[in-house]
Amino acid sequence: MKKNFYVTTPIYYPSGNLHIGHAYTTTLADVICRYKKMDGYKTFFLTGSDEHGQKIELKAKENNLDPKTYVDNIVKNFKHLWNKLNINYDKFIRTTDNFHIETVQKIFSTLLKKDLIYLSKYKGEYCISCEEFLTKEQILDNKFHVVCKNEFIIFEQDSYMLRVSKFKEFLTNLFSTNFLEPENRKKEMLNNFINNELEDLSVTRVNFSWGIPVIEDPKHVIYVWIDALSNYISALGYLNNEPQVMNDFWSEETEVLQIIGKEITRFHSIYWPVILKSLDLRLPDKILSHGWILSKNDKMSKSLNNVIDPVDVINKYSSDSLRFYISYNLPTYKDGSFTDELFIESYNNNLANNVGNLISRTSNMIIKYFDGMLPNVDIKDEPIYLIGDQTIKSYKCSMDKYNISESIDSVLKLGQECNKYIEEIRPWDLDKNNQMDKLAKVLNVLHRNIVIIIYLLSPILVESCNKMLKQVGVDENEINFETLLNSSYKINKLTDREILFKRI
Ligand code: MSP
Repeated sequence: MKKNFYVTTPIYYPSGNLHIGHAYTTTLADVICRYKKMDGYKTFFLTGSDEHGQKIELKAKENNLDPKTYVDNIVKNFKHLWNKLNINYDKFIRTTDNFHIETVQKIFSTLLKKDLIYLSKYKGEYCISCEEFLTKEQILDNKFHVVCKNEFIIFEQDSYMLRVSKFKEFLTNLFSTNFLEPENRKKEMLNNFINNELEDLSVTRVNFSWGIPVIEDPKHVIYVWIDALSNYISALGYLNNEPQVMNDFWSEETEVLQIIGKEITRFHSIYWPVILKSLDLRLPDKILSHGWILSKNDKMSKSLNNVIDPVDVINKYSSDSLRFYISYNLPTYKDGSFTDELFIESYNNNLANNVGNLISRTSNMIIKYFDGMLPNVDIKDEPIYLIGDQTIKSYKCSMDKYNISESIDSVLKLGQECNKYIEEIRPWDLDKNNQMDKLAKVLNVLHRNIVIIIYLLSPILVESCNKMLKQVGVDENEINFETLLNSSYKINKLTDREILFKRI
């Protein structure tokens, strides 16, 4: 079994501050990475910023700044957001980093030498805002880009081209595997590109200068996608400074997961594999292409001016509650929504009424009936004992498929079962009738299931996790999957009655 894990997010354009859509991808990557760590993997988590291109050049000009000063300011805000959202990345790559620039130039030279890149002319409908030549399907009313609704321009210029057309067979074989998820995105790529005429890709520009120059022909700058996609290996030291990290995390022993939003699927599932194959490098195990967060029916995006700022949500509620909403309420296979009403409803139902309520009523009863010291009794014959073990299994099974929402669902179901059990067994009656042995069993099994719930939610609720554990008298260093299954962690005296996840 592979025991290294490498996860990446797209590198985001610093053409403005980030919104909930970007927080979505990055939170998913963070949650999966934390889970993999819990599961014993050596992990590497990469995110960053995609700083070159015409759009950034124009934005900087609008702000009377040189491009680097302009992006420096915005990248500070990116890092501030990731910090507030408890995103535990290992590396933040900027495409203006010198090591990245050198690697991209070396990659370009290698492909040029292999004649996989050649000089030609390129003409097409081009969206400046998305840095993308458009296909027929992406054009609205002969004038606009269907996604961002901006007007495109037509232009022709000298350009180096990547021979994507040579890779039809390679791509057809690749698309017969499960490397791209979900299935409908795979079909879309096959129908629109791979099974059609597969065109070569324009990879340089001469009409702007804010980019990485081609060493062999410096009036060309390397256009955004070869520059951007290469970040995933330059960050590991490919052809550069840290070959050991590259050996560790781009080796066959590594499980490589790349999470993206659906609008950049073509670049990641077609051009990126072509580049890797051309360099004789392995491919990622999985490209997970998630849906969009919509606002009404449109994609939430800076260019449509309909964004929600995650920093506002964190300041108003909390980082954990945003991480929870993203992880649970926005499953990756479909588009989702983010509104105040949906957010509050999910928080109250799942965190306040289910998990928070279960922890506080159980710990209160342990304090009330046993002075906070849980008697150690055998609980294997308790009806809700086995559900705990089953939950661990189904949680891991879903997480291993990167289905975070489904994993959380199994944990929440365990919470519901426990709350239901309390209503049915009525521990307060057991106390009244002096059935203290049974009461000890009931509270023990509830306590065990609560510890399971807390541990399984710990990659998501990273700030509350310790508070929850403290409330049930367990030290965080005491639990891992093994001690959890054997119930072999130590339980201290419970004293804490703080209410977790107060209702909004
Ligand atoms: N710079 C390129 C990516 C290069 S990766 C080698 C880019 N940047 S971006 O700033 O536009 O970010 C796009 C990514 O942000 C999407 O792929 C997705 O991860 C996230 N999202 C932006 N808006 C989104 C939604 N409304 N909904 C969900 N995710 C969205 O493209």
